[in-house]
Amino acid sequence: MDLSSLLASNAAYREFTDRQIEDVELYEILDVARFAPSGGNRQGWRVVVIKDRLLREQIRDLYVLSWREYMAHVVADLVPFAPVDAGQWRGPVVDLELARDTPRPYKFSDHIDASPVMLLVLVELAQLAVLDNGLDRQSIVGGASVYPFCHNILLAAREKGLGGVMTTVLCRQEKEVRRIIGFPEGFGIASLVVLGEPKHEITRLRRRPVEQFVSVDRFDGEPFTAKA
Ligand SMILES: Cc1cc2nc3c(=O)[nH]c(=O)nc-3n(C[C@H](O)[C@H](O)[C@H](O)COP(=O)(O)O)c2cc1C
Repeated sequence: MDLSSLLASNAAYREFTDRQIEDVELYEILDVARFAPSGGNRQGWRVVVIKDRLLREQIRDLYVLSWREYMAHVVADLVPFAPVDAGQWRGPVVDLELARDTPRPYKFSDHIDASPVMLLVLVELAQLAVLDNGLDRQSIVGGASVYPFCHNILLAAREKGLGGVMTTVLCRQEKEVRRIIGFPEGFGIASLVVLGEPKHEITRLRRRPVEQFVSVDRFDGEPFTAKA
C-alpha cells in the first residue's frame, strides 16, 4: 500500500477476525513505530502488551466504566470533558457517578478484551517538554510527544493488512490501571491501542475537505484552495 492509500484507509477499526497476531508481527510494528518524533527526541513512551486474560478482563471492565462517563456526555449532546470555559475544564458537567452506574452497551467496549492485541501506551511525564504549560488554557503540547508514536503503530499495522484504534477513555481510570499494571507515579496513560485483522475494510472516511479548515494569512482569511 502506498503512503496516500495507507493514510486514507487508516480508519478506526474496532471489529476483528479471529486471526491472532504473532509476537514477531507485533514486534515489527513497534520496531517501525519507534521512529516517531517526540519533543527533544526524548521518546518518553513506554508500552505494556496486555496478554494475561485476567488483566485483559480487568482493563475491559475499567474501559466500560470510562465509556459510560463518555457516553453520558454524548447523550447530553456535549463534547466529553471538553475545555469549553475559555479553554479550561472546570470540572464535570454531568454526574460521573451516575454515569458509571448507567449501562451503555457497546460491542466494542464490552468485548475489548477479545481484541487480538492490546497495548497500553504510557508516557513518562517528566520527559515531556510542554511548551504551552501556564498559558491559562488547556495544555495540548505534551500529547504531541506520544501520539505520533501511537499513530505510527496504527499505520504500521495497516501496512500489514491489520488495523486498530487509538483509544483514550481508559485514562479516566488511570489510578486503578496503575494499580493493576504496576506503573509508577510520574507515568500517565496516553492510550490503549488495540489491533487486529479488520473484519471489514473501511474505505470511506468522513473527513472535512481542506478548504474548510485551511485559510490564508489570517484565521478568517480566504479558504486555501489548489490554484488551477
Ligand atoms: C486522541 C484520540 C482519542 C480517541 N479515543 C477513542 C476512544 O477512547 N474510544 C474509541 O472507540 N475511539 C477513540 N478514538 C477513535 C476516534 O473515535 C476515531 O478516530 C474517529 O471517530 C474517526 O473514526 P474513523 O477513522 O473510523 O472515521 C480516538 C481517536 C483519537 C485520535
